[in-house]
Amino acid sequence: MTFPETRPRRLRRTEAIRAMVRETRLSPSNLIYPLFVVPGGDVRNEVGSMPGVFQLSVERAADEAMAASDVGVRSVILFGIPESKDAVGSSSWDDGGVIPRAIRAIKRRRPEIVVITDVCFCEYTDHGHCGVLGERRDGTRDVLNDPTLANLVKQALCHARAGADMVAPSDMMDGRVGAIRRGLDEAGFADTAVLAYAAKYASAFYGPFRDAADSAPSFGDRRSYQMDPANAREALREVALDIEEGADIVMVKPALAYLDVVRAVRDRFDVPVAAYNVSGEYAMLKAAGKLGWIDERRAALEVLTAIRRAGADLILTYHAKEIAPFL
Ligand code: PBG
Repeated sequence: MTFPETRPRRLRRTEAIRAMVRETRLSPSNLIYPLFVVPGGDVRNEVGSMPGVFQLSVERAADEAMAASDVGVRSVILFGIPESKDAVGSSSWDDGGVIPRAIRAIKRRRPEIVVITDVCFCEYTDHGHCGVLGERRDGTRDVLNDPTLANLVKQALCHARAGADMVAPSDMMDGRVGAIRRGLDEAGFADTAVLAYAAKYASAFYGPFRDAADSAPSFGDRRSYQMDPANAREALREVALDIEEGADIVMVKPALAYLDVVRAVRDRFDVPVAAYNVSGEYAMLKAAGKLGWIDERRAALEVLTAIRRAGADLILTYHAKEIAPFL
């Protein structure tokens, strides 16, 4: 031991002391709770690969938003599973669709809840890709960028008309944030914010979500639009572009395997940073917890704290409502 003796354990001795010197705080107001909205009257279907997560009809989704807000989680992000699908996902801009109805139901019952909507096409197209398909010059089929942008604007406007506070494009088309920002402004929705899925990776951790949202691609994969997991510098270029185009908040997704990216984005940019603790990350904790192999609650708190420590201001997590009472 050197003199004077350095003994870090002095500050770990009691819970009160540990709480005094704790560097990272986690509060229910940092959490955003994802909800899956389905057609029908009184639906509450548990998702097999996501215990504790349900496909909910409109009023049941509003009930769930109320229950989350009762424990301090005051924002939700909505995903819609439509009645009918077609090649372009036209049901996504129907003002009578499940998402506009769920927005209105939540706002009617508790206007202060922050309602965010996922803006994408994979749940609405019959092929499960995130936009309009076409042929490239080499003859292969792919999602066409610019025709998709026009439709994204229609979907975002539909959500804004219903009263969404923020729209969250998750498709990874180039130029979508600018197109949506311009479309919102021109239609008089200057107050509707854009939360951009700025650095979204082509990840294996979305598997359970695709069961919940019925959005798995019917052929191929999403690697021509979502990012390669190997790339971190590219994430910074994507985030810079989205901020230039008018993003109010930027997101990194998934969270756990990309904490270095969260940190790099936090260090480089000044806008609020969100991270998506995705379905596969949730399912892993649930599965191991059920088997008795880990203490799920402690593991969830550790994971969420780590995502905050890496620099995320906001965390989208399926654990939000369940964990909030323990924060
Ligand atoms: C696309 C979208 C996906 C997720 C959120 N928005 C799936 C995908 O890109 O295939 C995944 C979220 C999760 O896994 O929890 N609309």
